[in-house]
Amino acid sequence: MNSFYLRNFLRLQNFSSEDILFLIKYAKKLKFKKIINKEKKHLKNKNIVLIFEKESTRTRCSFEVASFDQGAKITYLNTKDIHLGYKESIEDTASTLGKIYDGIVYRGHIHKNIKKLAKYAKIPVWNGLTESFHPTQILSDIFTIKEIFFNKSIQDIKIAYIGDSKNNISNTLIEASNLLKFKLSLISPKEYLPTQKFLHTYNIKINKKLNNILLTEDIEKGVYQADVIYTDVWISMGENASKEEKKINLLKKYQVNQNVLKSTCNPFIKVFHCLPALHNTKTIYGKKIIQKFNLKNGVEITDDVFKSNKKIIFQQSANRVHIVKALIICSLIKNISF
Ligand code: CP
Ligand code: NVA
Repeated sequence: MNSFYLRNFLRLQNFSSEDILFLIKYAKKLKFKKIINKEKKHLKNKNIVLIFEKESTRTRCSFEVASFDQGAKITYLNTKDIHLGYKESIEDTASTLGKIYDGIVYRGHIHKNIKKLAKYAKIPVWNGLTESFHPTQILSDIFTIKEIFFNKSIQDIKIAYIGDSKNNISNTLIEASNLLKFKLSLISPKEYLPTQKFLHTYNIKINKKLNNILLTEDIEKGVYQADVIYTDVWISMGENASKEEKKINLLKKYQVNQNVLKSTCNPFIKVFHCLPALHNTKTIYGKKIIQKFNLKNGVEITDDVFKSNKKIIFQQSANRVHIVKALIICSLIKNISF
C-alpha cells in the first residue's frame, strides 16, 4: 500500500519497515524501466520547488533528474535567490509555495525549520538533508544493499559505520536499523558516540531488547564480520569551524584504511561513503586538512580504499535518482501500479 501519498518525508522514523521496503521495491522497478527505456511519465502536470540552503551535487541532481524523467517541472532556489530567513518568514514562504507547487525539496541547516515549512506549506515536503537527518541518502543505501546482497535478508546484514557518529548520517542509520533490524555498529571516539541525551534531543530511541545496535570506541570489535564499512566526512556542512582541530585529532584513528578492512575478517567486505569524500589532495579542502593534520593517504578514507574494487560508492550515489523518483511519485500519485 502507498503510505507516502500527500505525506511529508522528513525522517525515516515516521514510516514503517513495510513502507520503506515498498518504496525500495518500486525504485527497483523504476530503475529497470529506465534501463529498458520504457519509463512512463507519472508527473506531467506537477511542479516541484527545491530550496537549498547548503551545497549539493547528488541530492539536487537526483531530485532534478527524477523530476525530468517523470515529466515534472522544477524550480531551484538557493538562499541568494529568495527572501526566506532574511525578509520573509518560513511560514509566509511556505504558505506561498504551497499554493504554487505540488511538492518541496528542502536542504537546510535546522531540522526544526523543515518541520515548520511542512506545517505551513500543506503539500509534501521532502528532506534533502538537515543537520539531523539525511533520509533519502539512507534509503538509497538500503536499496543498494538489497541489490548487492540479493540473496541475504536485510536482518542478516551488518553495517559498521566509522567516524563521526553524531551526525545526520549516523542518526538516520540508527533510524533505519530500528525499522529494518539490520545490525549496526557505530564506531567513534567517546566524544563522537551518541549519548542518551544526544539521542533524546533527536527523539531517537535504540531498542535495547533487539540488541542490533552497538556503540563502541573499539574499531576491531565494531567492524568484525561486517558486510559493509560505511563512512562520512568528519566535518559536516554548516558545522562550527572552531571544532575542527579537536575533532580531527580525535577522529584520526578512525580513518577507513586497509587495516580497518582487514579487521572485518571478511574478504568480501563492501565500502560505502555517502560523498563528497576527502580521499586525496585533489580538492582544496582535502589538501588543507591532509597537510595540516599530517594524515596519510586521505582524510576519513584512504585513496586506495576509495578506489578499490570493494567500493560501492558510485552505485550508492547513482541509485539516489531511482529512490527519489519512487518517493516523489508515491507522494504525489495515490495509486501506484507495479
Ligand atoms: N550525499 C549527498 O547528499 O551528496 P550531496 O551533498 O552532493 O547532495
Ligand atoms: N554529514 C554530511 C553528509 C553529506 C551528504 C554533511 O552533513 O555535510
